[in-house]
Amino acid sequence: MQERIAEILSEAKERLACATEKKEVDDIRVAILGKKGQLTEILRGMGGLSKEEKKQIGPLANKAKNELEQLINKKFDDVKEAAKNAQFKKEKIDVTEPGREFRMGVKHPITLVAEEISKIFKDLGYEVVQGPLADTVYRAFDGLNSPANHPSRDLTDTFYFNEDICLRPHTSTMQVRTLEEREAPFRIVSLGRCFRCDTPDATHSPIFHQCEGLIVDEGISMTDLKGTLDLMAKQLFGPDTKTKFRPHHFPFTEPSAEMDVSCFKCGGKGCSVCKGSGWIEILGCGETHPNVVGLGGIDTEKYTAFAFGMGLERIAMLKYGVDDIRLFYENDMRFIRQFR
Ligand code: PHE
Repeated sequence: MQERIAEILSEAKERLACATEKKEVDDIRVAILGKKGQLTEILRGMGGLSKEEKKQIGPLANKAKNELEQLINKKFDDVKEAAKNAQFKKEKIDVTEPGREFRMGVKHPITLVAEEISKIFKDLGYEVVQGPLADTVYRAFDGLNSPANHPSRDLTDTFYFNEDICLRPHTSTMQVRTLEEREAPFRIVSLGRCFRCDTPDATHSPIFHQCEGLIVDEGISMTDLKGTLDLMAKQLFGPDTKTKFRPHHFPFTEPSAEMDVSCFKCGGKGCSVCKGSGWIEILGCGETHPNVVGLGGIDTEKYTAFAFGMGLERIAMLKYGVDDIRLFYENDMRFIRQFR
């Protein structure tokens, strides 16, 4: 019997030493000290022993029981502690590790220019309006007083869906739309995408952006046009900017002009940006032709108008010193992120 107790004790110690999980320790406890455990059976069988034996075995069995209980409790604690440490190790945060970069979006340079121009004209009482990218051939050409043989109508210049619908080749479609819809007086600017059959190169893109402006009111003249566009140029390129109007031709304006701004890089002396001339062309404009002003029934004796159209890419290229228009569409973040 003595041997049996010693055996149970040493076996239990061995098993406990190898246990690494709570469940294993619990199994050992049940096997030895549980209701039908090895030691429990021995203790339970004490009744059938002689007085002598009881005296000898009793304290031995109790001592073994106490010792095992202590060992088991200690092992429970150890196993718990080890599990906790393992978890800590797994969840350890290395505070010296570099953080993940938080990438904020930035506005595209064309958006920046569009917003700047919108702001200039909003401050002058203009309303910013949007129009569809595909429009009628009528609004792109005929309504704009454009003769049937005008070269920009060619299939090689304009994208047609059919005889009547095309992708707008300029934002001037918005002149026709607003004149059809609105009562005089009004003043609008419209900024958006336009399309022309151009092969991409450093200065051409089949998709580009324009800003159109139209003001209809009593007594609007070339003086208003020049004053307004001169102010815009000074706000866009700086207060020392000078403007120059050269005669031009557009079917929908009479007289028509192109506006040049003094080169902001060299101040007019001549450099690579202005190709030595000191001036840079930025837009087309003119007093709106009465055939156009009268489209929606506006009294052309009472009301006159001026309009202008300019390319946003061109303005952005000049303002930011970008030398290839294609950079705007490649979505290379290294390029776009520079305009913050
Ligand atoms: N629509 C013309 C163009 O695309 C620009 C323009 C607009 C000229 C308004 C005069 C008036 O070139």
